[in-house]
Amino acid sequence: MSNGLVSPYTAPDFYADALSKGRHRDIVGGRWDETGRLQMDLLREAGLLPHHRLLDIGAGSLRLGCKAVPYLDAGHYWATDASRALMLAGHAQELADPARLSPDHLIEDADFTFPAIPDTITHAIAFAVFTHLPMNHLRLALLSLHARFPRLETLLFTTFLAPDAAALPRPVKQPDGVVTHATRAPWHMLAEDVLHLATASGFAIRQRADRLPRGQVLFTATRA
Ligand SMILES: C[S@@+](CC[C@H](N)C(=O)[O-])C[C@H]1O[C@@H](n2cnc3c(N)ncnc32)[C@H](O)[C@@H]1O
Repeated sequence: MSNGLVSPYTAPDFYADALSKGRHRDIVGGRWDETGRLQMDLLREAGLLPHHRLLDIGAGSLRLGCKAVPYLDAGHYWATDASRALMLAGHAQELADPARLSPDHLIEDADFTFPAIPDTITHAIAFAVFTHLPMNHLRLALLSLHARFPRLETLLFTTFLAPDAAALPRPVKQPDGVVTHATRAPWHMLAEDVLHLATASGFAIRQRADRLPRGQVLFTATRA
């Protein structure tokens, strides 16, 4: 992307065009079952149980939601995204039992203020979201999560990383071929900056050693 947009998602009419062509799976990156399953596995490894309350940030067309909703107790899944229409497409087309998820739990929010999400959230995930945004978005999200959700036990999120400061300005070819950038999407950043943003926002944070599909790095944050 070299057209000056923050991300492909901010292109005019991006969501309306893609949804009108039935592309609600493609615009979150495809690999539907594999990536939904991976997110469920990561959450369960991190301790997610059915009685917990999950916030799926940048949830897209519910690639995770279609698996998390049947796993969680009824009413315990909430989602935000820059496009509510995208989440509603997932609600209509991807849920085994749409009655288990009230559309009221799908909240449009591009600023990470989490309006109308209850403060009882215990777990949150932002998978392949900050990979598409400049890093101040991550800072905003971390500060807001810390302020809004006093019972938050675990936050999982992914970023792309540049290996070191010397590599930061240049395009980086990630392990499975995605090329990332410092000044345009898909965005990369330095591990030390992720660590700083998290700790300065009130979280303790761990970086998982191995890379996820597409070369993303998983971070696990807990309230410090
Ligand atoms: C690659 S998709 C990943 C979707 C979902 N997390 C998943 O793994 O299936 C990135 C998502 O981030 C959403 N997004 C982009 N910018 C956003 C913002 N500022 N706030 C919230 N969501 C955003 C997009 O609409 C899209 O659904």
